[in-house]
This record gives sequence, structure tokens and C-alpha cells, in this order.
Amino acid sequence: MERITENLVRCPSCKGGYCSVNRDEKDFFTCKVCGERYPIRDGFVDLVPELHLSKTAAQFFMESPAIVNIYESRLWRKSMAAAMILGISFNKEAKLISGAANIANADSVLDLACGPGIYTRAFARTMGKGRVVGLDLSAPMLRWGAARAKKQGLDNVVYVRASALDLPFEDESFEVVNCCGALHLFPDPDKALEEVGRVLAPGGCFTVAAVRRGRGLLGAIREKYTRSMGFRGFTSDALSQTLERKGFSGIHCHHDARRWIIMSAVKQ
Ligand SMILES: C[S@@+](CC[C@H](N)C(=O)[O-])C[C@H]1O[C@@H](n2cnc3c(N)ncnc32)[C@H](O)[C@@H]1O
Repeated sequence: MERITENLVRCPSCKGGYCSVNRDEKDFFTCKVCGERYPIRDGFVDLVPELHLSKTAAQFFMESPAIVNIYESRLWRKSMAAAMILGISFNKEAKLISGAANIANADSVLDLACGPGIYTRAFARTMGKGRVVGLDLSAPMLRWGAARAKKQGLDNVVYVRASALDLPFEDESFEVVNCCGALHLFPDPDKALEEVGRVLAPGGCFTVAAVRRGRGLLGAIREKYTRSMGFRGFTSDALSQTLERKGFSGIHCHHDARRWIIMSAVKQ
């Protein structure tokens, strides 16, 4: 933990210093400047006091033990049903994402809204060296992911609990930011994309997979219904334009069908 988190987490409280593990307080991340302490529990660093959180119905859903337990299996993310709804299987999506981000040669990767770490651990295995940070708001998801990473002996992964809207990292910290299956869940996707742009190094790659907004009357009705539960869809045009506005170039749409969009972009 000490080695992999060196000069990584910026204190969410004072935003002035890095947090690290003290030799005599192994269960906490402590800010070197203001002294604020954040617990390390169940294998992840918790930067979000529960009291400050307000969650949408969709975010709550992501915390339920039933979903966490089946998330990575053929009953959910890798299911035939998901592949049919999204128009692409998970394995194909993962291949597209890893290729677009050139994960095999990356040194520092942020897997944003990593859930249980379906991408985080795959990246860690592919990269070999360097570090992968899996960040999510859901403690049950992170607990599951951290336990699997430990079991699989992956020592280049660290899991952090924080919000995608206020990333606890210095500017230009990562070569790659990946955000799959989550942009549509964020209460303020624009703010999250701004944060992605801030923490990516110039020339760094952003990969994203998100819910595609349907067209026509049916699409509008569906959008209204899903928004009331806390998630929104995107059109590839609108997402491209937003990325451009946030300072990205080389925007490439890899998949734009059924209910799913997969894109990559480069930070200028
Ligand atoms: C559907 S899962 C995606 C997991 C994984 N990235 C994948 O591709 O399958 C969405 C995740 O987004 C997380 N999430 C939602 N809002 C968030 C926020 N504001 N900050 C960080 N994570 C968030 C949820 O907790 C959930 O684990």
C-alpha cells in the first residue's frame, strides 16, 4: 500500500498535501499538511465520510449486496441479456477499451467508477508495471474488488472511495482514465468530465462507455423515466461536443448502437 500510493492521493480536506500511511498508524491515510486522517478499511482508502453523501436511487442500487455479488458474472455485466441490450458483449467492449487506451503500455491508469473492478484488475494484469487506481463511491463494490485483487496477488492496484465529481488527485496525474458504465449515473456528468480532463496528463487517453439515449418519442419517454431514477442517456454527437468543449481531441466513436456508446478521446 505505501509504495503504490506514494504521491497519489491529495487531501480532500485541505487540498494542499498528499496523504500517506504512517508507520505507527497503518489503518489510516494521513495528510502530511493538515493532519486529517482517512480510514483504510477492507482494503480500500475511504475518503468520503458517509454523512456527507446523498445518493440517487440508481447509486443506491449499486450498493445492494445482490448486485455486488453477481456484478462481474454471466448473470449481469457479462450476460447475454446485457450484450443484447447494449449491442456488444463485455469481452468485445473490454478489447476495444484496452486497445484504444493502449493499456499494455500504460504506466498510470485511473479506472473511474470502477464498481467491483472488472476493468481495474484486468488492466493491472495487462500492464505489468505501473499502478491502477480503482475509484468508486460504493463501499460494498470496493470491498468486493479489493478482496479479489488481494486473492489474485495483484500488488499494482489501489482502491479509493471518493466522488467522480471531486477527484482526490493532482492535475495531470494519469496517462489513462477509463470510465465505463457510469457516466450516466453521475448527477453532474459535465463536472466529472472536467475532473477527468484535469487529472489526465497532456496526450493522455480517456475511454468511456455509457448509456445511449434513444431517439424519437419512445427515446424521450424512456429518458424521462430513467432520469427520475437517477440516470441519463447520451447521444454520441452531444458527448463528442462536450468532450471537445472540455479540451479533448481525437474523439473516436467505437460503438454507437442499441443502448450503448463507447468512445475514446485524447487530452490536448
Ligand atoms: C454500473 S457500475 C460500473 C462498473 C464498471 N466500471 C463497469 O464497467 O462495469 C457504476 C458504478 O458507478 C459508481 N458511481 C456512481 N456515481 C458515482 C460517483 N459520483 N462517483 C464515483 N462512483 C460513482 C457506482 O457506485 C457503481 O459502482
